[in-house]
This record gives sequence, structure tokens and C-alpha cells, in this order.
Amino acid sequence: MAFDIDMIKKVYANMTERVDAAREIVGKPLTLSEKILYSHLWDGTPAKAFRRGKDYVDFAPDRVACQDATAQMALLQFMQAGKPKVAVPTTVHCDHLIQAKDGAATDLKHANNTSSEVFNFLESVSNKYGIGFWKPGAGIIHQVVLENYAFPGGMMIGTDSHTVNAGGLGMVAIGVGGADAVDVMAGMAWELKFPKLIGVRLTGKLSGWTAPKDVILKVAEILTVKGGTGAIVEYFGPGALSMSCTGKGTICNMGAEIGATTSTFGYDDSMERYLRATDRADVADAANNIKDYLTADNEVYANPEQYFDQVIDINLSELGPLLNGPFTPDLSTEVGRDMTEKAKANDWPMQVEWGLIGSCTNSSYEDLSRASSIAQQALDKGLKTKAEFGINPGSEQVRYTAERDGILEVFEKLDAKIFTNACGPCIGQWARYSDPKNAPKNSIVHSFNRNFAKRADGNPNTHAFVASPELTAAIAIAGRLDFNPITDKLINENGEEVMLDEPTGWELPPKGFDVKENGYLEPVTDGSGVQITVNPTSERLQLLEPFTPIGESITGAKLLIKAFGKCTTDHISMAGPWLRFRGHLDNIANNTLIGAVNAFNKKTNFVKNQLTGDYGGVPDTQRDYKKNSVWSVVVGDHNYGEGSSREHAAMQPRHLGVAAVIVKSFARIHETNLKKQGMLGLTFANEADYDLIQEDDTFNFLDLNEFAPDKQLHIEVVHADGSKDTLALNHTYNDAQIEWYKEGSALNLIKRQNA
Ligand code: F3S
Repeated sequence: MAFDIDMIKKVYANMTERVDAAREIVGKPLTLSEKILYSHLWDGTPAKAFRRGKDYVDFAPDRVACQDATAQMALLQFMQAGKPKVAVPTTVHCDHLIQAKDGAATDLKHANNTSSEVFNFLESVSNKYGIGFWKPGAGIIHQVVLENYAFPGGMMIGTDSHTVNAGGLGMVAIGVGGADAVDVMAGMAWELKFPKLIGVRLTGKLSGWTAPKDVILKVAEILTVKGGTGAIVEYFGPGALSMSCTGKGTICNMGAEIGATTSTFGYDDSMERYLRATDRADVADAANNIKDYLTADNEVYANPEQYFDQVIDINLSELGPLLNGPFTPDLSTEVGRDMTEKAKANDWPMQVEWGLIGSCTNSSYEDLSRASSIAQQALDKGLKTKAEFGINPGSEQVRYTAERDGILEVFEKLDAKIFTNACGPCIGQWARYSDPKNAPKNSIVHSFNRNFAKRADGNPNTHAFVASPELTAAIAIAGRLDFNPITDKLINENGEEVMLDEPTGWELPPKGFDVKENGYLEPVTDGSGVQITVNPTSERLQLLEPFTPIGESITGAKLLIKAFGKCTTDHISMAGPWLRFRGHLDNIANNTLIGAVNAFNKKTNFVKNQLTGDYGGVPDTQRDYKKNSVWSVVVGDHNYGEGSSREHAAMQPRHLGVAAVIVKSFARIHETNLKKQGMLGLTFANEADYDLIQEDDTFNFLDLNEFAPDKQLHIEVVHADGSKDTLALNHTYNDAQIEWYKEGSALNLIKRQNA
């Protein structure tokens, strides 16, 4: 059911041959990351060495994973490709759309009522196209992937930034936008800039109150939220060998918080133990057969400075428990050092109101068992917990086993709320307040990964601190941010001073994992008869229509907006309440560019409609142009489209009738997304030409009929006074991408090729 051992064996067979070839070509010993990358080249056996941080390379990932919020548009697009089945094993996980409020039973029922049309849609599309479907309540995508699909040496992409969690089981697993996932599901190559490599050498051993979470909190402190950008972080050393597989997952998971492409660990005994415990002895056996290929070459770890672009040393024996936050995951405070002063100086509320344990980062059996050892002490020592507890188990398998083993009961005795096996508070799906915007200032501690303002409960005044599950439990019991369980005493109900002992727990359940109903639905073998129905009046889902080609003649196009300064994908397609419409292109298009600043009046969502002379919102203005069959052009500054890789930021303008986006420079993923949607993404050959663009400008493309790689295009800009400028525009389209443009989109081309 869960995994395809034959596929894994094939990957391993390729790996030995390709890694040997790569070592020859690169001419030196290889890191694990390089071994995985070179053995997953789209073109097969490596023929040349790639330059880290420079070369764009086509890869062939082994798997795709999608979560319910991002899967909607990804699957709607995949349906456009005209394929009977996905080309690589793919799974969909329903975990983001479930609110945490009263506890699992009630909350799950509520989610199934409110989001049933989305869940039903995802289920039927999965069934039709051979995609494994994990129902709401089955678990959080990354925990379920680790338990069922991740394998050492594999490459996976997923439509969620914490896909990187699977590095805990020795994968190169990378979070991508839906458009990339669709490419791979449709059988196309997946492109990535060959990453730089950061090595983290772990010496010593974790002990006492220090947990794997503290390793990544420390790395975040060292590298900051941007320090891993464009790099794979590879952990190694004796300290790595001493940690559990799920602990490694925690460390890799939060690699997303330092901007890393992904993180990974070499195959070791902890991974073998985890594979066997999760019913995958055959994967462990296969991995054991090629063990040397699933870690770096010996010389690499002996002299890492020669093989990594940067090396960081952490001695686990000297590492203390950390509390990172608020509002950013890289702001570290060592427990017991200066939290009291820091909190006072920054006016952070000292009293802690909630301790939340869970999220894809820390919701394993080991996490729950160690945290429960602290909770049990509260019961045994007569302590009354000062803060409330909320628990989100990572999967139904973890929940069922933890319940069987009495772990959840411990928390329940402390009046903890056991929420659904889902993201819940981690993605703002926490009904903590009726009016979060005006909720009071407060502090919470959680074992999640992100702690940006409003992330958990929508309250901008909630100060969220990130810690290990065991420290979260201790702080929730003490109710104070500056509690140090190593030195501080607590007063129990009898007025006695007591201390919390160090946490204990099980790496894996002593009696093995168990589950009754894991929530998985295997797709039918032949899905051709499966009907997909989307209610035409639905406000959340809309079947896509193929885009019509824009064509070789664009004349009389109007300026929609000249964006001033930063224009990220969030400015182009806002998140927040708009997430609800992720599966409905026309509805979500009503947020198109509403966050972009109009260069002419410095206002957002206030542009001139050249047909009427009136000022109005960007989407309304654009809809008017479309109604009148007038193309439009968006003009932007540097790094246009940076930020999240969401494809909506390209699909929405395309849907509304924008023909071209002309900017000083693009964020590359957004540029590619524009190309995939069959639009023109162009840059000013002369950056200063941005200043020539006026509010009433009309654009005529002069030589689109000669669109060719490495050949400039030219545009005539007609100003309101009748004067004209002819501008040269650069582009990066290759032959295939020009075909996408001519066909109307990349998916149109795939569909034609499949016909
Ligand atoms: Fe879900 Fe939070 Fe992870 S939203 S996938 S639990 S980062």
C-alpha cells in the first residue's frame, strides 16, 4: 500500500552506477547531498560536473507529496495535462483545513462539514489519477510521509515548505510550488539551481533537557532566517549518529526556517530502526545493501572544510535547551540565562498562557512520550499546571499508539485538549479568540517551527516562543517564560518545593506501532471511470479552462499598474482570508495585485482605468479591460515576484487578461511560473526605461512574430500626448518555453503532445 519497494530498488540500482560516474566526473569524494542529486538527474548518468549555486539542472524526483491547501490548484492544473495517471508516486494529505477548537472529535466533524467539497474533490481526483489519498484526521503530511514514504537516498518534492522534514530519513526532499509539482506529476523534468552545501558537524551527545529541537534552534541562531538560502544543509558526525530518526526529522524540518533548500542526514542505525518499526524492513534491507552510497564518502566527513561551502560545528554535550522567539525563529535565548532580563527589556509577557505540542516538526511518538514524562511529574508531584495544554499528534498511527500506551491519558489528566492529527494552531487554524485582531497581549510556547505574528491564533499580540516538546511541557506547567527546569523549583498544591526531573521517553514504542484505521485510501487501478464533479456554483472550487494563446500580435495594450518597490507574490496574490479560494481561480483573482503599490500615487489597489478615466481597484480595472478585449501590461521594479513560489501569482493575472509583465528583474521562480502560464515575462534591457512608463501608456509589441531564444523583443510605448518611445526588452525563454507561450501554457503543450 504505502510504498513501492520495486521503485526504491530501482533508485538504488541507479544510484550505485551514477554516484560512481559522478565521483569520476567531479574528480573528488562526494557529499551525501551530491550523491543524491547526481543520481537523480533527468538525463540519467552524469555527463558533467555542475557548479554549485550557478547551474540550473533538471532532476527526476522519485515522489510528490501535496497538502490539501496547495493540492487544490495543483490537481486542477494536472487535470489539464490530459494524462490518465500521475507519472510518479504521489500522495495528497488533508491536514491544513482542520480547525482546532474543542478537541479532535468535534473539530474533525466540523472540518468535514465545512470543507467537504474540497476534501471530496481531492479524494475523487486522487482516485482517478492514481494518487494516494490521506483523509482528514489521518495526520500531518510530513509525519505521514516520514512514516510511510521517505527512504534514504531518495528525492522528493512537495507542495509545502516543510517537505524538507523527510531529510530525517536521509532524503533530499524539497518544498515547491504547485506548478513544479504538476510538472513532475505530468512526467516532466524538475529544475533546480544546483545548491551550495553547508556541513554541520555534530559532536558530543544530547542529554538531560536538551533535544534535537535545540540543535536546529541553535543552527537558526547561527545562520539566521536567511543563512541557508540556496543551500542543502548536511548533518554528520558522532552527534548525528546518536539521535533518533524522528529527531533528525525535526532538525531537517526547521531547515525551512533558515531558508535552506533542504537538509539531510546520512543513513544510520536510527534510520534502520525507524524503517523496521514502521513496517518497512524491506527498505532497510535494500538500504543496507548500498550503505556506502547513502552517506558521504569518508574523506568528506574527515575534512569537511574541503568539500562544503561552509562548515558549522556544534558540540551537543555543551548545548543547552533554547527558547526561540518571539515573532522570529532565529532569536534564541538559552533557558536559565537571560530570559528574565530580555523579557523585561522587550516587554514580553512573562506569564505563559498555552503550551502547544505538535506540528509536523515535533509530533512523533518520541516527542509525545518525552513531553508526557514531564506532564506525569506534574501529576505525581502535585503540581497544578499554570498554562493550558494543546496537543496535535502527527498521525493517526502516532495517536493510536500513544493512546494505547497511556501517553495521551497523562495529558488529558492535565485537562489538555487533544486536537485532530492535523496542522491546527500551526497554520492559524486555532479558534482561540472570537476577535483575534483585538485580542490581548500574551505569551505562548510551542514546539512548532514558525512563530511569526498572527501565525498561531491570528492575534498580532501573541508572543509565540519555540521550544522542544519537553521544555514546552515544563514551561506550560510553570506558566513562566523564564522558568529553568534545570535549576528552578516549583511550589506544589501542598505548598512544598519540588523540581522537575529530566525528561525520559522512548525513541520508538516498546510494544511497536499500531493503528486501527490509518485514514489512507488507495486509488483504484483504473481510474478512467471515476467522475470528478465540481459544483458550478461553488465558491471554493472551479474547474480550469485551458488558457487561449495570447498570440503574436499585441497592440493597444494598456498599463494596468506600474508597481513601485517591492512586489512579492504576496503582493500579487495575498494569503490570509484568500486561502479559502485557492481552488477557485476566478474568485481568488479578486485579490490580484491588490498589495502592489501604484508608482503614480503610492497607493495600493488604486489604479487608473484608461478606458473610463476613473480610479479603482486593480482586479476591477483589469476585468473591465478584459470585458473590452483590451490586453494589459504590468510593469515592476527589481526582484518582482519574490517570496512564496505560489503559481496563483502568475495564473491570476493570466486569467484576468494581462499579456505581459515587464520589470527591472524577476525572482526566478515567478518568472518561470509566468512562462508556464503562457504569458510574457520580460525585463527592460535598459533599467532606466522603467522611468519612461507613464500612467496613460499604451503598448504595441513590434516583433513578437520573431520571438526566439537570446533575441531581444521591442515594444512601442505610446504616451498620452502622442509621443512614443521604443524600448528593447530582454527575455530568458528557451525554445521549449516559447512553445509554451505559443500554445497558451505549458500544460496545453503537454496535453497536445499526449493527444
Ligand atoms: Fe502543517 Fe505547520 Fe507543518 S502548517 S505542514 S504543521 S508547518
